[in-house]
Amino acid sequence: MRSILAIASVIIMLLTTAAFAVTTEKAPADPVIIKVPEGTKLKKSLVSFPHAKHAAEACATCHHTMDKNPKAQPCSTKGCHDMGNPVTKEEKLSMTYFRNAYHANVTASCNGCHKARKAEGKPAGPTDCKGCHK
Ligand code: HEC
Ligand code: HEC
Ligand code: HEC
Repeated sequence: MRSILAIASVIIMLLTTAAFAVTTEKAPADPVIIKVPEGTKLKKSLVSFPHAKHAAEACATCHHTMDKNPKAQPCSTKGCHDMGNPVTKEEKLSMTYFRNAYHANVTASCNGCHKARKAEGKPAGPTDCKGCHK
């Protein structure tokens, strides 16, 4: 009985440490070119993203799956924002269409956050096309 309890408490300890594991991952120091879903036909230039200019933001604001998986995932990971060329109206509005992930009016999106901060009169990144699509 005692050893079962001991084993059980070790298992519980391991489970709780795993559940509360804090990410030890570091943000890339240099700007990263954002990946686009494979085979996408692009109208605009690829966008470069500087982590260093976003050090004040929590990783999980953008890498919003980090609460479940401490590893930062690229946005176009399979099953996430991985639709490159939408056809139907529904597909064009879907958050799986990668473009929406970066422009929609939500905090995790580039332009969503920039527009909201600008409206609040706080420091913000670019909101004009050329500020990101250089
Ligand atoms: C704050 C940054 C930001 C701003 C401002 C922005 N975009 Fe984007 N846009 C992105 C990111 C990031 C992507 C996805 C990565 C990529 O396509 O390189 C993207 C993707 C796109 C795409 C889909 C990919 C393609 O090239 O066909 C289009 C179209 C687009 N943007 C148009 C615009 C237009 C038009 C504006 C201005 C009205 C604009 N964007 C402003 C960040 C921005
Ligand atoms: C303001 C948004 C934002 C914040 C905050 C942010 N990141 Fe990122 N991160 C990105 C974007 C966008 C990419 C490029 C994703 C892509 O290519 O799809 C990226 C890419 C990465 C990558 C490379 C992933 C890969 O496999 O290509 C790592 C690692 C990473 N981030 C870690 C972090 C860590 C750690 C933090 C917090 C200290 C952090 N990021 C904060 C937006 C952000
Ligand atoms: C949660 C809010 C937030 C999100 C999401 C976010 N940004 Fe920003 N971004 C900021 C703020 C705030 C600044 C201004 C930082 C400063 O002036 O110190 C900024 C600045 C920038 C700058 C200007 C850097 C410079 O040289 O001054 C660029 C470019 C930029 N962001 C691109 C992006 C792109 C691309 C994405 C999406 C992948 C993104 N940002 C997502 C808040 C955000």
